[in-house]
Amino acid sequence: MDVGFYKRLLDNCSDLIWTTDVEGRITYINNKITKFGYEMDGLIGRPMLEILNVRHMGKDRTGGPLDMGTQRKLEMVIEDKGGNPHRVVVSSSPLYDDNNNIIGVMGVLHDDTEIYSLMTKLKHEERLASLGRLATGIAHEIRNPLSSIKMNLDILGKRLSLPHQEQEHFDIAKEGVANLEKIVTEFIYYAKPMPMNMTRQDLHKTIEDTVAMARLQCDEAKLSVVLKFAETMPPVSFDKVKVQQVLLNILLNALQASKHGGTVEITTSLTQSPSRARVDVADHGEWIIEENVQFVFDPFFTTKKSGTGLGLSIVRSIMISHNGTVNIQSKHNEGTTVTLEFPIT
Ligand SMILES: Nc1ncnc2c1ncn2[C@@H]1O[C@H](COP(=O)(O)OP(=O)(O)OP(=O)(O)O)[C@@H](O)[C@H]1O
Ligand SMILES: [Mg+2]
Repeated sequence: MDVGFYKRLLDNCSDLIWTTDVEGRITYINNKITKFGYEMDGLIGRPMLEILNVRHMGKDRTGGPLDMGTQRKLEMVIEDKGGNPHRVVVSSSPLYDDNNNIIGVMGVLHDDTEIYSLMTKLKHEERLASLGRLATGIAHEIRNPLSSIKMNLDILGKRLSLPHQEQEHFDIAKEGVANLEKIVTEFIYYAKPMPMNMTRQDLHKTIEDTVAMARLQCDEAKLSVVLKFAETMPPVSFDKVKVQQVLLNILLNALQASKHGGTVEITTSLTQSPSRARVDVADHGEWIIEENVQFVFDPFFTTKKSGTGLGLSIVRSIMISHNGTVNIQSKHNEGTTVTLEFPIT
């Protein structure tokens, strides 16, 4: 068979294959290197380790000494030319000439990045689901005794007239119970959403009503809310109470992030194909650090001292039950924008 056949064979392989001389310089490389951002030209003669920019050395599946004469299988994270990480498995084995002298190394690199990120996502979701089941069970168990504590504290509060300091302790206990009740109720709501009451109605009116509901808290925090509504907005089908809850949770986060007052803009617009009503809530407060953005919709993720971390997970679950979406964008020094989209049918 001619050389062309072998070249085609190697180029059609889905893995990156190369050979180097004893000094680690490339003597052959197949065209899969282009997937890592490199051109085929000019690679022959360059050190392979210069191209395989190893970011993190993982497990060595073979063990043994690191010399030319051994076969090796290594898991590692490498960077492509653009600096993107790839999780790969590299197998290398020595190349011999006819007299059994080692003349270099042959390597095969298998890119596992996609499978790995899918597996990680799946594991993360499974963990959240089992955590959710466990927590719901506990929340139900806590709710009844908690209601009884609250009721009894209320009765005692009305009957007792305590000296100043004791009254303070009593109030702290009541406040603690009220906080616990909020967490448990919110969590149970999150885990077991109420039935939907969908009606075609005016989205702008619902936004105005919600902002009015939060007026007192906004005034206290010296936060002004600016409404920038689209000129036309067809009726949208949604559950008013739930959408108010969505907007309140987002507004409250904006308020808590804008520590020294400021402005929150609520902008509405219509998007074409798909036809959707879009609501952007933008604040200019403390932003979310990059590593945290991926977690903000997870239940119990919070960076606040007294947060439950359920606000945005409730927002997301309500938006999903509206066949809508919620996204968050946060920029260093600029603030955060939460975007809601509702389908228009
Ligand atoms: N507008 C915002 N600006 C800055 N950070 C935000 C914003 N919205 C959300 N976050 C971040 O996302 C985290 C999760 O928000 P979420 O509303 O789910 O929980 P929480 O506000 O901490 O608690 P709560 O259950 O009381 O709402 C927050 O703790 C905060 O770190
Ligand atoms: Mg919140």
